[in-house]
Amino acid sequence: MGKYQLIATAAMGLEAIVAKEVRALGYECEVENGKVIYTGDENAIARSNLWLRTADRVKIKVGEFKAYTFDELFEKTKALPWEKYLPEDAEFPVTGKSVKSKLFSVSDCQAIVKKAVVDRMKSHYKRNSWFEESGAYFRIEVALLKDVATITIDTSGQGLHKRGYRVDQGEAPLKETLAAALVSLTNWKPDKPFIDPFCGSGTIPIEAAMIGQNIAPGFNREFVSESWNWIPETVWDQARTEAEDLAKYDQQLDITGTDIDHRMVKIAQENSFEAGLGDLIQYKQMQVRDITTNKEYGVIVGNPPYGERLGEKKAVEQMYSEMGKAFSKLDTWSIYIMTSNEQFEQFYGKPATKKRKLFNGFIRTDLYQYWGKRPPRTIE
Ligand SMILES: C[S@@+](CC[C@H](N)C(=O)[O-])C[C@H]1O[C@@H](n2cnc3c(N)ncnc32)[C@H](O)[C@@H]1O
Repeated sequence: MGKYQLIATAAMGLEAIVAKEVRALGYECEVENGKVIYTGDENAIARSNLWLRTADRVKIKVGEFKAYTFDELFEKTKALPWEKYLPEDAEFPVTGKSVKSKLFSVSDCQAIVKKAVVDRMKSHYKRNSWFEESGAYFRIEVALLKDVATITIDTSGQGLHKRGYRVDQGEAPLKETLAAALVSLTNWKPDKPFIDPFCGSGTIPIEAAMIGQNIAPGFNREFVSESWNWIPETVWDQARTEAEDLAKYDQQLDITGTDIDHRMVKIAQENSFEAGLGDLIQYKQMQVRDITTNKEYGVIVGNPPYGERLGEKKAVEQMYSEMGKAFSKLDTWSIYIMTSNEQFEQFYGKPATKKRKLFNGFIRTDLYQYWGKRPPRTIE
């Protein structure tokens, strides 16, 4: 088994949650802006891709160095052990980005890295001609930040948010990774009731169900590194067997998704079936103001409309205040609402216990948290 420096990339603000997941897989890690860095072998590559719910991708760090000139970028890239990763027939496109660096022309940096890798491969594989690149896919990235080049290979393929269950969606679906992060930010335990009153295509309830039954989020999809010759098939087989063994399909769950739009309810049901959850989640067409329950100590997580579109603001604010009234009766429930509306607490009618800044794509939002009463302690 080899040893690799791995990077789990994370959306801004989610790094600590990704780090917790990496540690739960058994790897010590460090957190930087937008990434969690750790060391692992081939098993770690497979397990990270299968299990990380809130990371965007898993990358291998091939090298990191200062580069102020194109010559430096070329020589230092060429000095990296590319033959360890790329077989002779590898297809290896190079992508790039540059922030606050002397080498700001991304297309030039990409071309130079490509040339350096080709040169290294030519001398290793003793070739004079170009490579046909007809084999497995290795996406190389050169990322410059303050003149430091980080060179990586992506192991995921499609982003990890692509779980494979979303067959249809509404207008503003939440990224699956962010939905999983929202659930993980609550204190929800699978034996407690859970409601998403704005379920849309069902992303939050589906992610909650997968967390509740400990289903690996990548179980239903493939990863680009599965076609790499240096990761034996047995590594993936073992990782999938481990995921199968750890899934708790018998765990009873009480998860409900509701939405004002009956078409969304249907889509959410279809997506849940696609996720292999059958009718584990209960869906209902319902307005948020009509939500009542006599269950206790549950969790509500919702991503309502933000009212940013022209003409929508007033109606949305009215809806926030109706929601506040409906939820005021649920004093044992913990309620988590994500919105970009800065006056949310005024409309809702209550200051939040805690707020947490989160980005929904490029939209800055807050997760308004209203913690419910704790259950009484049982005296032995
Ligand atoms: C931002 S979308 C939620 C997206 C969802 N999280 C997903 O991943 O697909 C907001 C949802 O709230 C629903 N909605 C709007 N007003 C509502 C109301 N008064 N009561 C319940 N649902 C409402 C919309 O139909 C829409 O599906």
